[in-house]
Amino acid sequence: MAYRIEHPTISRIVWWLLGVGFVLLLIQLMRRSSSDAINEQHFNATLDQLLLPRWLSSVGHDQIAYFLIKELSTQGFTTTYDEVWNELPYTNVVGIMNPQAKQFLLLSCHYDSKYLDTSEEYVSATDGAVSCAILLNMAKKLNYFLHNEFAHNPDLGLVLVFFDAHDSVDGYVDSTLPLLGSKGFVKAETVSLRQIRLVISFNLIGAPDQIFMSKYQRTYKLHERLADIEQELRTSGKLSDCHQLFHKLKDHDNDIADDHYAFLEKDIPVMHVVPYTYPEVWLQETDNLQHLHWPTIRNMNIIITQFVYEYLNDVAFRTL
Ligand SMILES: *[C@@H]1O[C@H](CO)[C@@H](O)[C@H](O)[C@H]1NC(C)=O
Repeated sequence: MAYRIEHPTISRIVWWLLGVGFVLLLIQLMRRSSSDAINEQHFNATLDQLLLPRWLSSVGHDQIAYFLIKELSTQGFTTTYDEVWNELPYTNVVGIMNPQAKQFLLLSCHYDSKYLDTSEEYVSATDGAVSCAILLNMAKKLNYFLHNEFAHNPDLGLVLVFFDAHDSVDGYVDSTLPLLGSKGFVKAETVSLRQIRLVISFNLIGAPDQIFMSKYQRTYKLHERLADIEQELRTSGKLSDCHQLFHKLKDHDNDIADDHYAFLEKDIPVMHVVPYTYPEVWLQETDNLQHLHWPTIRNMNIIITQFVYEYLNDVAFRTL
């Protein structure tokens, strides 16, 4: 049956309302896409700073440590660093929000790259750089929340750690990971271990075809929440067109060595956001900007930001 509006005045009002609604919707869409673009510009500019050869004792390494401290201070974090001598000095860069809090959520990545004797141009994009840029971009997007509501939270603080000496020390070129930065952090208790509620370490993100599974039973519920968040964001149209990243699957006997190992040994709950398989470009010169998979990076950025926001904001969520 055809629907007709008989009365000319009513019809005019309906059209007027529709018009206003449409304009409001357009404004909203434009606002969102311009803030998305600004956020991505920050991500790109950050990544650009990180994509240098940066093995321990290289020029790029020290330049990046300095950049990280500067960026964290600009964002209003209390910054500190561990400087440890182990033939060469290595430096973990640490940023803290709510340093007086009783407990902390600790998020980590590593900023050094491996020294490859086959390539001087190796910038180790998925191996560290993208994850570090994701953490800084997340903090930037949550900046208003972190400095307002969250700043008055006596119970919980946020720690970002950019570990050093993950990949190479003194020109090691074999495939074992020294992971000295995280071992040193745990030993020195730069943040008191009994105050750390959860550690999430991020690595190897940004290649095509990656999927992410749970690595530890103890944090499986939190992993499920990541998968649900991805689903919710996709349903509400907030994600880029990309395959599903987080799966409610348990890969509990098969982790990839990373900086959370030192915390795991101390019985602290950990999550490892790492793909099921190594990127194809792993430890090759081609692990660079040109080979990154942007839909994965964009969606990961949005999902992680939402997860961290919920974790910091919602008491019930933290007891999962
Ligand atoms: C960020 O960098 C990627 C890859 O170079 C590019 O495709 C994208 O358009 C950039 N985004 C912005 C907002 O400049």
